[in-house]
Amino acid sequence: MASLQSSSKRISHNPHITRKPVAHSHSLSVIPRNLAFLGPGLRHVQHGSVKIIRSSNRTEAATDYSIQVSDVPMLTCAEAIERLKTNRENRKGKQEFLAMYSSIFGGITTDPAAMVIPIDDHMVHRGHGVFDTAGIRDGYLYELDQHIDRIIRSASMAKVDLPFDRESIRRILIQTVSASKCKTGSLRYWLSAGPGDFQLSPSGCDQPALYAIVLQDQSPFSSKGIKVVTSSIPIKHPQFAVMKSVNYLPNVLSKMEAEEKGAFAAIWLDGDGFIAEGPNMNVAFVTKEKELLMPQFDKILSGCTAKRVLALAEGLVKEGKLRGVRVENVTVEEGKKADEMMLIGSGILVRPIVQWDEQIIGDGKEGPLTQILLNLIIEDMESGPLTVRTPVPY
Ligand SMILES: Cc1ncc(COP(=O)(O)O)c(C=O)c1O
Repeated sequence: MASLQSSSKRISHNPHITRKPVAHSHSLSVIPRNLAFLGPGLRHVQHGSVKIIRSSNRTEAATDYSIQVSDVPMLTCAEAIERLKTNRENRKGKQEFLAMYSSIFGGITTDPAAMVIPIDDHMVHRGHGVFDTAGIRDGYLYELDQHIDRIIRSASMAKVDLPFDRESIRRILIQTVSASKCKTGSLRYWLSAGPGDFQLSPSGCDQPALYAIVLQDQSPFSSKGIKVVTSSIPIKHPQFAVMKSVNYLPNVLSKMEAEEKGAFAAIWLDGDGFIAEGPNMNVAFVTKEKELLMPQFDKILSGCTAKRVLALAEGLVKEGKLRGVRVENVTVEEGKKADEMMLIGSGILVRPIVQWDEQIIGDGKEGPLTQILLNLIIEDMESGPLTVRTPVPY
């Protein structure tokens, strides 16, 4: 709420803003929807309406945006928190947030209204942070250590210092899941340069931060075939694609492009035209010769699930179900003529692809080896070795 107050102050000091006296009653319809949420018994500041004139060129005719700030209330801290609570309650039914750890308050909360991060955190206003996830299945964290190793690698590449040593981070993450009582869902966590000021340099951020949240998710993993398209959104430069930073705008736009085209995801090609990855998953193929084929990880994110699939697939080679496993550059032509194509990631596990752009993959049905790999990963989550399953002490 402090930011609301300061932004209205800044508006009134802007030389491009002319102040007009209030004519009569204020129309709520011009207030952005999120500001139109007014609880009972709260004070309103009745200053008058403000007309903002924005122009990209002083000689051009100005565009007028009439914004009325007269109904923006001033809130005490208690009132702001009360509204955060109400706001959360109104959004119930979407995603359940069970527990959050923040190094800012140095503890765990199970109250969703308190699950906030400071606006001056360098991760918020400059994207200077990294993140990762780990699935929670039947009270075990799946591939927690692999995901922690990756966030620490990402932090190093993003020049984000660790607020604690690896063991302490691991302990905090497990304790947060324990406090959430969540048995099936996911754990997401962030390392950031931390709060400080609003400068580009993080030199004013004196304490790096760790945040973690536990989300309830009991929806089963789907094995239904999906369609993908080739992404027209430029792929991230390899220097940025290999780390899991919070700069996911290209990934979001790529996903949106897919949805606009009636597809599940869009596939990136790398700078040399080879198949790269999806917006939050890796991609793999089963060739006509029954080899598992996966693009190498030098220019994309090294997927923990994809790496685990590669390891489990060796068992299928021994059983004679697969002829081999190859990790190398994959051309679009090779990919499109494969017998099977799949997306792999911790959010979806292994998902068969039945169509890529206009090309039907294989016989257009979910591939049998893709299904076997999905079953292997599910089995691994449920009863795999303790190197991939960390028990949570509830
Ligand atoms: C860009 C990108 N590629 C691949 C993956 C798959 O990685 P993982 O299997 O570790 O979830 C992700 C998932 O976060 C991703 O964001």
